[in-house]
Amino acid sequence: MNVPLVDLRKQYAPLKDQIFAGFEKALDGMQLFLGENVQQLEKEFSQFCGASYGIGVSDGTTALHIILRAMNIGPGDEVITVAHTFIATVEAILLAGATPVFVDIDPDTCLMDVSQVEAKITPRTKAVLPVHLYGQTVDMDPLLEVAARYGLRVVEDACQAHGAEYKGRKAGSLADAAGFSFYFSKNLGAYGEGGFITTNDSDLALKMRMIRDHGSGARYHHDMLGLNGRLDELQAVVLRVKLPHLEDWNGQRRTHANLYGKLLSAAPVVTPIAHSNNFHVYHLYVIKTPQRDELQAWLKSQNIFTGIHYPIPLHLQKSMEFLGYQKGDLPATEQAATQILSLPMYADLENDQIEYVAAAVKNFFEANQISEPQFENANVS
Ligand SMILES: Cc1ncc(COP(=O)(O)O)c(C=O)c1O
Repeated sequence: MNVPLVDLRKQYAPLKDQIFAGFEKALDGMQLFLGENVQQLEKEFSQFCGASYGIGVSDGTTALHIILRAMNIGPGDEVITVAHTFIATVEAILLAGATPVFVDIDPDTCLMDVSQVEAKITPRTKAVLPVHLYGQTVDMDPLLEVAARYGLRVVEDACQAHGAEYKGRKAGSLADAAGFSFYFSKNLGAYGEGGFITTNDSDLALKMRMIRDHGSGARYHHDMLGLNGRLDELQAVVLRVKLPHLEDWNGQRRTHANLYGKLLSAAPVVTPIAHSNNFHVYHLYVIKTPQRDELQAWLKSQNIFTGIHYPIPLHLQKSMEFLGYQKGDLPATEQAATQILSLPMYADLENDQIEYVAAAVKNFFEANQISEPQFENANVS
């Protein structure tokens, strides 16, 4: 059996005719620039998230960058975030000219440890950028409370959290603004690049809409410095066809996570911990083991393809050397990077594939005579 990390062919087949019909209509009309599909998607996806305003943009990195720019966050300002995320979170801050300040993660969930945020606030801090990693939201209430006390903006990186919920409210409606990615393998993915911004703030929405389109509200009137960050009409066609299925697909992912959890309960690995406040949508299904590299190689030999999200913490990346962090500065982040392994996860994964993966994981530990998780750090249970 062959189990890829992600396989979208089965998802595409039943949607193909509808997508092609949408392409045909858009192409026949030749309205390819912020046309009907982008406008409708802006209504539909912001409604889905429970947010008042939605702005279709070119990708998730640009979404986050535009939000920070619209908040006037730039040189001399600090933004508190995590180093256990995709580099785009921090690129968005650096491209705005601001400085990222890292806090460590909670070793259980691999999400921002919000209890560490207050200690990092300085007179230069302007915002906090929590990342709803793997499909699970950050513990927002205590974070919003600290942010309110210090007058900080809060921006959700919801790029991996389409449909995830915190206390019954969806990612994208939990803070001042949120950035989403529609990278093809996300829970809601385009067939190229795509991204989205949600907010309940009308002034901010207006500004972000202008920045997305070269700082203009009316053609060739550039009232502020912007960029080309527009979502294209053909990607919006794909996303509108897919959006009505998102909740079902998220449900399937949750069912798969449940089955993995049951089958792996006897294995000496740590399976994902979903906080009780959260509706986890399992963009990724990430287990932990100190034998990560050996397990990954073994699974590959069994035609099971896994991923590591992410192997090098951002504060230790070459491109971030200038920030001055050292190894040891973020212990939970650094330890997670050596132990995490993303197992195959997508809506159309079959039960027998999950059973095959779980059996292969168990075989690995049996063959190596390991029966207990062998973590050095007692924090990681
Ligand atoms: C956590 C996170 N933030 C930001 C991004 C950036 O999104 P994009 O690739 O659409 O620019 C991604 C996408 O991979 C992501 O996973």
